[in-house]
Amino acid sequence: MERILRSLLIRIIAFVKSSFFLLRPGSYLGFLASPLLFIGNSLKLSRWISEQRKKNLAYDDFFRFTRNYEARFKLHEFVADSEKLVEDKIYYMEFGVAGGDSFSWWLKKNKNPQSRFFGFDTFEGLPEDWGIFKKGEMAPDQLEFQDKRYRLLRGLFQNTLPGFIKTEKLEEGVRKIIHLDADLFSSTLFTLTSLAGCLNKGDILIFDEFCVPNHEFFALSIFEESYNFKYETLGAINNYLQVALKVI
Ligand SMILES: C[S@@+](CC[C@H](N)C(=O)[O-])C[C@H]1O[C@@H](n2cnc3c(N)ncnc32)[C@H](O)[C@@H]1O
Repeated sequence: MERILRSLLIRIIAFVKSSFFLLRPGSYLGFLASPLLFIGNSLKLSRWISEQRKKNLAYDDFFRFTRNYEARFKLHEFVADSEKLVEDKIYYMEFGVAGGDSFSWWLKKNKNPQSRFFGFDTFEGLPEDWGIFKKGEMAPDQLEFQDKRYRLLRGLFQNTLPGFIKTEKLEEGVRKIIHLDADLFSSTLFTLTSLAGCLNKGDILIFDEFCVPNHEFFALSIFEESYNFKYETLGAINNYLQVALKVI
């Protein structure tokens, strides 16, 4: 009896699905796809934030009425100091360098002459629209730092990162600080999935625009589910706009 019911249910579902596609609702209701995704992701994000809050993170300024974008460096400072990343040799990898504010912050913060700093960016601005920001915005002027330890990789991550992973000999045991500041879902997901094979226990991920439901948060959610990625949250600032995670 159960088998008959189950097979009937499968047929009904298949019929409803096929009829749905036959009616082509995407042609006239397609505009709802993004807002509905936004609602779903906002609910997931709010659940994620409540879960973190229950853990009483060592660094968390929730709730504040206004955002102070510059305060993101307090979170970076907390991570650098509490994880002992000031004197140790590190690999700092930044995805989305633009004018180099956070890149130069880490160059100054870490004192180890053996550390290496890799900055990935088109340096021609965003490759797609992101909210009110249009493709091509955020392109920096000439960029140069007074430090010999860095290298900038110019171009789409999709073009520069695969070759970098193949050729760059990153020593095991040296911690990677991966700063995800590309804002976009596509760029963040690409970066996370590309780096999946190189992530080691203790590596740090810092997100700069985390609580944007359809972008960095969404990319992390998909990555976490698909790669069984395990992490602990180190801290958050600006009501979870910036978040730091540690690979466990
Ligand atoms: C918000 S800005 C980075 C800000 C910077 N970290 C700072 O502290 O000032 C985002 C940058 O990500 C870059 N970006 C986004 N997606 C990219 C991709 N797929 N490939 C290369 N660069 C990308 C854009 O060019 C842009 O410069």
